[in-house]
Amino acid sequence: MTKEECKDKINFLESELKALRSFTQKESEQHNKILTQSSKMAAMGEMIGNIAHQWRQPLMELSSILMEAEAKIRISKNLTYNQVLEMIDTSNQILKYMSNTIDDFRNFFATDKEKTKFKISEQIKRTVNILSSTLENKKIQIQIIIQSNPTIYGYQNEYSQVLINIISNAKDVLVQRGIENGIIKVKVYEKDGECITEIIDNAGGISEKYMDDIFKPFMTFEKKNGTGIGLFMSKLIVENNMNGRLSAKNVKNGAQFLIELPIF
Ligand SMILES: Nc1ncnc2c1ncn2[C@@H]1O[C@H](COP(=O)(O)OP(=O)(O)OP(=O)(O)O)[C@@H](O)[C@H]1O
Ligand SMILES: [Mg+2]
Repeated sequence: MTKEECKDKINFLESELKALRSFTQKESEQHNKILTQSSKMAAMGEMIGNIAHQWRQPLMELSSILMEAEAKIRISKNLTYNQVLEMIDTSNQILKYMSNTIDDFRNFFATDKEKTKFKISEQIKRTVNILSSTLENKKIQIQIIIQSNPTIYGYQNEYSQVLINIISNAKDVLVQRGIENGIIKVKVYEKDGECITEIIDNAGGISEKYMDDIFKPFMTFEKKNGTGIGLFMSKLIVENNMNGRLSAKNVKNGAQFLIELPIF
């Protein structure tokens, strides 16, 4: 091979190498793009799944209010002006909660969300109100015991979501196991500078064999339509977003859930 031919060959190989490099770089950029895109999609999917999960309860609540209104009009024909106003008011509260849920989950993935100060007992009452008509329908009694009313600094609606998940679970188990005189107690008190929300039911408790798994994602037991997201999501909210702890154990006739939060 002459010197000239050698140079030509080297030039040719260099240009091939350059083309190959730019091709692999493009490939890798493309690959990264797909990766970011799919992780965004996964996050979106997770967000939509969470919203759907969090909307199921209030949607059932709205439908039960409408059913009650219809029954009153059609059957007993005694729906009063004040009852209508009350139904509208409750429905508006539920809709507001649903709309907040979307904002919350958007914020969940944002880094610049804002915490606020809120009084724990007001938030509990507001939350229980969202569930009241379903609980009434299932003949489940709910008791709120406020021993202390501290101020919490955090995400108000997310705290409600946790409560809704825990109370709805208790309701589901009470219904599923056909427990009569079902009762759910929500108690708030202070201990060692922390605010404790205690939720106790009389549904017979969490099966010991499932105890270690109830906070893991997609772990659902003894349920027809469970997705297993509720407690996983709740733990994430309390422990990652609110600096607290969420735990569960069995007590005398049922399960006890503790939400422990720092006081502001
Ligand atoms: N109060 C309770 N008493 C007995 N078992 C419970 C109680 N709360 C939760 N569990 C058990 O923990 C499991 C996990 O609850 P989680 O809320 O994460 O999922 P799920 O309720 O099954 O489904 P989803 O909340 O997505 O509809 C439930 O399937 C149930 O077996
Ligand atoms: Mg649940």
